[in-house]
Amino acid sequence: MSEKCKKIYITTPIYYVNDVPHIGHAYTTIIADTLARYSRMVGMDVFFLTGTDEHGQKIEQAAKARGKSPQEYADEISARFKNLWDEFDISYDKFIRTTDPDHMKGVQKAFEVMYDKGDIYKDVYRGHYCVSCETFFTDTQLVDEEFCPECGRSTTIVEEESYFFRLSKYEERLLEWYESKPECILPKSRRNEVINFVKNGLEDLSITRTSFDWGVKLPEKMNDPKHVMYVWLDALMNYVTALGYGTDEKRMDYWPAKIHLIGKDILRFHAIYWPAFLMSLGLELPHHIGAHGWWTRNGEKMSKSKGNVVDPKEIADAYGLENFRYFMLREVPFGQDGDFSQRALIDRINSDLGNDLGNLLNRIIGMSGKYFDFRIDSEGVKTHHASELEEAEKIFSGIEPYLYEVQTNRYLEELWKTLRIANKAIDTAMPWVKMKEAKEKEAMATIALVANILAKVSVLLHPFMPKTTQTIAGALGFAITTEQYRRLIKEKSLLESFTIKKIPPLFPRIEEPLVETPAKKEETAKEEKKQKRGSEKRAPSETKSEESGANLITIDQFFQVQLKVGTVVKAEEVPKSKKLLRLQVDLGEEQPRQIIAGIKEWYGPQDLEGTQVCVVANLKPAKLMGMLSEGMLLAAKDEEGLCLIRPEKPRRPGSAIG
Ligand code: MSP
Repeated sequence: MSEKCKKIYITTPIYYVNDVPHIGHAYTTIIADTLARYSRMVGMDVFFLTGTDEHGQKIEQAAKARGKSPQEYADEISARFKNLWDEFDISYDKFIRTTDPDHMKGVQKAFEVMYDKGDIYKDVYRGHYCVSCETFFTDTQLVDEEFCPECGRSTTIVEEESYFFRLSKYEERLLEWYESKPECILPKSRRNEVINFVKNGLEDLSITRTSFDWGVKLPEKMNDPKHVMYVWLDALMNYVTALGYGTDEKRMDYWPAKIHLIGKDILRFHAIYWPAFLMSLGLELPHHIGAHGWWTRNGEKMSKSKGNVVDPKEIADAYGLENFRYFMLREVPFGQDGDFSQRALIDRINSDLGNDLGNLLNRIIGMSGKYFDFRIDSEGVKTHHASELEEAEKIFSGIEPYLYEVQTNRYLEELWKTLRIANKAIDTAMPWVKMKEAKEKEAMATIALVANILAKVSVLLHPFMPKTTQTIAGALGFAITTEQYRRLIKEKSLLESFTIKKIPPLFPRIEEPLVETPAKKEETAKEEKKQKRGSEKRAPSETKSEESGANLITIDQFFQVQLKVGTVVKAEEVPKSKKLLRLQVDLGEEQPRQIIAGIKEWYGPQDLEGTQVCVVANLKPAKLMGMLSEGMLLAAKDEEGLCLIRPEKPRRPGSAIG
């Protein structure tokens, strides 16, 4: 693994630009950064890729909702990801954007190769599409015949001409791959999930769309300009276009990737579609696909609408970037979900970093200063502490595999065992007693053992906490480099004689959470708003958006939404659906509008007929379970359920709300 100049390619997913970065994104990127830094430290030639995924209907819609062009919007959010990674000192070698011209050329080239191979054909796609997940589903995959099995949102029925990729042709070869390379999917426990999915049969995959155009066009020679590529074909190809596939292929020698780091929700795309595309292109398959679990808040998935999203920058600013990195990589076993709490973060900082690592360093600084004027000589270590040294060296030389299996928590746990060996050595040998007994050499041997353990720990911890470990190394009189890695870890050498430098404590104790929780923040914001309303009377146009901190829209944007009062003239159940009702609503137009509403859990037809509702009247019609829906009802929902928003007094159907 650690031969000199061996090439190694590590990737993160490319992040959708419909959302700003949160700790889930930071997690994948920090794992990848740690692997990349480790690989560089041991002397490999690393290419580390991250970037943004910018095409597709979801992005087109998100841009429209903000009154921007998709490109303008993508530029803005992509820059936020890039800036955050720069602030986080993420050591990527390339930040790819799927709107980069070279990437788009590469995707077109791949389409041509697959087409020429006979793996792409044209047909008509009939099925259900979830815009939010940018995924197609068959009838049997839907929940309640309508809802997306991944995110629970309503799917739309799509019937359009499409090009298909012969995914079914690769079923057998995929199964052979999973069998012959048991570690191709990490953690290994996820492999069975994928195997079962494939064994259930793969359908050919629709890989182009005609209903929107924010995407990569087909190669010119296809002469079919109304199609754009399916966003996942476009996105997955980034892993090879970043190396120049289809344009300037000089970096293709980094391929195949050592590992694609991803979240468990996008495993299917990476473990099934991606290897099938690669087989079709005649390219090698990646060594590993590593799927991590989800970060949750109080056991719930984070989402903007729930207001429980944790902002990685806020946490890193408050607790220290490297402490945050340590926490994320230590707290949860790879592949499992982890609940984010500031309490857990504080405990890790105070206990693992402060008590175990920081205190040990302070003890060594203190004792070496008091007894030896900060001079340390490692000469007596092998004589007086051979067994402790051997035990620690065994751990140092054996932990690398944990890292490449992405078991970062195990790696750190093992590393911490050596700190315990060091602490125990001090407590048993008691250098202060040895000094009184004039056994200076023995006292020096113990202090030197611990200093050397700390030096080796700082090297192996370096990829996780790059700056902090250089500070520790600096205190021990050396700098962490590939050469020092080779000496201290590979060759198991000791630091010999050196002078300790005094440094201030690295991990001051934290008592209370440093960042307000979202719920608390909301409370404070409400309180501030109340106070402001009381103390100032200001025309709305004078209110600055920075002051309220909200995501404000202009009055013109608000008036783009037509809200109207409607009278329900007819309501009936939708056969076979647990959620939907079919309503005819009079909006003062020639004909009542048909609205398919997901409110059956809370209202029956009898509660609705003859009553008034509030309707979003200029929503693009959508098909739900094959029926056209020409509007949306306004409703409020909380833990107790859903209730419709209705006018306080009857109003003429079609009356404007606003
Ligand atoms: N654009 C696709 C990936 C294409 S890769 C060829 C995508 N983007 S994403 O922005 O929605 O998600 C990116 C990554 O963030 C995924 O790996 C996803 O699992 C991860 N996370 C998003 N929310 C998360 C948590 N709450 N916790 C941990 N990771 C999660 O999917």
